[in-house]
Amino acid sequence: MDPTLPPPGEAVGFLKVHVGEPVATRLLSDRRGSRAWKIEGPRGVVALKANNPDDDTARDKAAEMAQEDGHLVRLTDAGAISPGYRVDAGTWEGGNWLAVRWVDGIPVWRAFAPARGPKSDRPSLRPWLLGIARTWAERLALLHAAGWAHADVQPTNTLITKAGAAAVIDYALACGPGDRPHLPYRGALTHTTAPEIADVILSTSADIHIRAEPPADIWGLGASLFWCWTGHRPVSYEDGAPREDKLNAISKAATFPLDDVRPWAFSEFENVIRACLAPAPEDRPSANDLAALLSAS
Ligand SMILES: Nc1ncnc2c1ncn2[C@@H]1O[C@H](COP(=O)(O)OP(=O)(O)O)[C@@H](O)[C@H]1O
Ligand SMILES: [Mg+2]
Repeated sequence: MDPTLPPPGEAVGFLKVHVGEPVATRLLSDRRGSRAWKIEGPRGVVALKANNPDDDTARDKAAEMAQEDGHLVRLTDAGAISPGYRVDAGTWEGGNWLAVRWVDGIPVWRAFAPARGPKSDRPSLRPWLLGIARTWAERLALLHAAGWAHADVQPTNTLITKAGAAAVIDYALACGPGDRPHLPYRGALTHTTAPEIADVILSTSADIHIRAEPPADIWGLGASLFWCWTGHRPVSYEDGAPREDKLNAISKAATFPLDDVRPWAFSEFENVIRACLAPAPEDRPSANDLAALLSAS
């Protein structure tokens, strides 16, 4: 990845209005047809996403970018995300771009590094881990209350602030009410795909849209906490196995016993993870219940 790769000029032109001049830009990620930059000016900072028109292995990323913008507008109207999160969106020579408010945080895998070692049980880490789980559940509860599912809950789509609060990003694949045209949702990152979604992916053809429901987000939350705390993904399969084989293993809903892989014993946190990974969606706690439970602890 070349950190100096410039963002679409059309987008930077619009974003100067928000961040002021001079503008400094830095490429943050470039994967599966989607790129993201940090755009910084004297008056503000935003994250800019644009499709990569040269990546023909990607799904229809330009359409996905426009879809995410539509999701942000609807989620803002529904009160599920804060009004200032969506900054601007538009088209450029190679497709579509979308800018959102900068979240000053680090991805969950990196944030959990101090908690992952066998000798890392320190009193201060316990409330910190529970606080991340609680704030993550609170963010999801807002989406769920509006009838939406995020549908791509995974460690790189949540940033942890210095204060230990979770911020959920990347609403490209969210599933909401209404029957608008939607790029067919066929699951997102395999490792955090809920068993009921895995099951439907395997039994339907690729053009069928699967509407993810809130319990699938809860499974994704449990899988992310499991993965980032223990260093192991929750379901056993070979790294190089075909996606179908992985989905098949996930659809059987057997996860590694947490007792075998946890870095240290922490029953309160383990109980949250186990509850989220309940095989049957109806047995999982709601995001609201989880947030309330964690507020009381
Ligand atoms: N609002 C934001 N604040 C800070 N960084 C962000 C923000 N949105 C995205 N990023 C960074 O850009 C990366 C890619 O953005 P994301 O929305 O997840 O798109 P995709 O997964 O499609 O590439 C994220 O993993 C994160 O590092
Ligand atoms: Mg993402």
